[in-house]
Amino acid sequence: MKLLVTGGAGFIGSNFVNLFAEKYDITVLDKLTYCGCMENLRDVMNKITFVKADVCDAAAVEKAIKDCDAVVHYAAQSHVDRSITDSDVFIKTNVLGTHTMLEAARKHDVRFVHISTDEIYGQIESGSWTEQSPLCPRNPYSASKAAADMLAQAYFTTYGLPVVITRSSNNFGPRQFPEKIIPLFITNALNNRSLPVYGDGMNVRDWLYVIDNCEAIEMVMHKGKPGEAYNIGGGNEMPNIEITKLILSRLNKPESLITFVKDRPGHDKRYSLDFSKIKKLGWQPRFSFEDAMKQTVDWYVDNRWWWEPLVK
Ligand SMILES: NC(=O)c1ccc[n+]([C@@H]2O[C@H](COP(=O)([O-])OP(=O)(O)OC[C@H]3O[C@@H](n4cnc5c(N)ncnc54)[C@H](O)[C@@H]3O)[C@@H](O)[C@H]2O)c1
Repeated sequence: MKLLVTGGAGFIGSNFVNLFAEKYDITVLDKLTYCGCMENLRDVMNKITFVKADVCDAAAVEKAIKDCDAVVHYAAQSHVDRSITDSDVFIKTNVLGTHTMLEAARKHDVRFVHISTDEIYGQIESGSWTEQSPLCPRNPYSASKAAADMLAQAYFTTYGLPVVITRSSNNFGPRQFPEKIIPLFITNALNNRSLPVYGDGMNVRDWLYVIDNCEAIEMVMHKGKPGEAYNIGGGNEMPNIEITKLILSRLNKPESLITFVKDRPGHDKRYSLDFSKIKKLGWQPRFSFEDAMKQTVDWYVDNRWWWEPLVK
């Protein structure tokens, strides 16, 4: 089976490619922005094809997609803080880029696995979102992802394109750019720098190990019903302050490294997913939160060469 993986040099995409390079004939299409790098693919370079291109470049996308059986569309601008200071590239990549991908998939009738996010639902005080919950994005990143998610749904309804959508919670694991909370705090702690916690640290996220997410995405690619979305959760809801303390304790660093900083504007209070629908397909997380955190922290400890050039 031939797959086109966009954003395959980024965090989740490269974990997916490393996991499935033996099983599928994979072409990665990636622009190599600040958070995508060839080092993420170095162990599988002889097994895959790599195309450096922008998902907004219709000609390059069409050339790469034409013999493929499925596209797994990860490519995106993914950092909420950056979307607050400059949303332009978020709209271009996440909305127009997804549109370019959908158009090419439609022309060549290629199954489309769209990687969306739980952030499109907004925030929830109690209970959990199902796939039927309304989309209420509250920052430019999540708004651009909601637009992309709806476009993907529209291509199924309007053109019958076989689209399946995954909406996962916050991922963590190896190769995540050290601007996201877990790798930022691990690398800061390793450098004895302060860990800047937003607001009172009580914002809650559900944490999902990246390998579990990649396995779920593969399952949705095969077993997902066209036109349907699937929530993928880890079942590990935790306030940011708790995860911060956990990282410090794993690294034997003092809690005095924690600094509370001015909150992010429009900071969503809590995310929570009901992921019973994908469980019915036969998936559930394989890794315990403790094991996954240990593997993640160990990876950053063992791979300073990877992240040191990325932190100032
Ligand atoms: N990280 C999470 O916790 C999380 C959770 C839910 C959903 N998602 C979604 O998963 C996908 C991947 O997220 P990630 O955390 O791996 O992101 P990332 O920022 O680590 O990687 C994004 C990749 O896309 C590439 N890219 C960016 N713009 C491009 C363009 N115009 N053309 C081609 N390639 C481009 C980058 O070079 C990079 O390799 C995104 O769609 C994101 O919205 C992420």
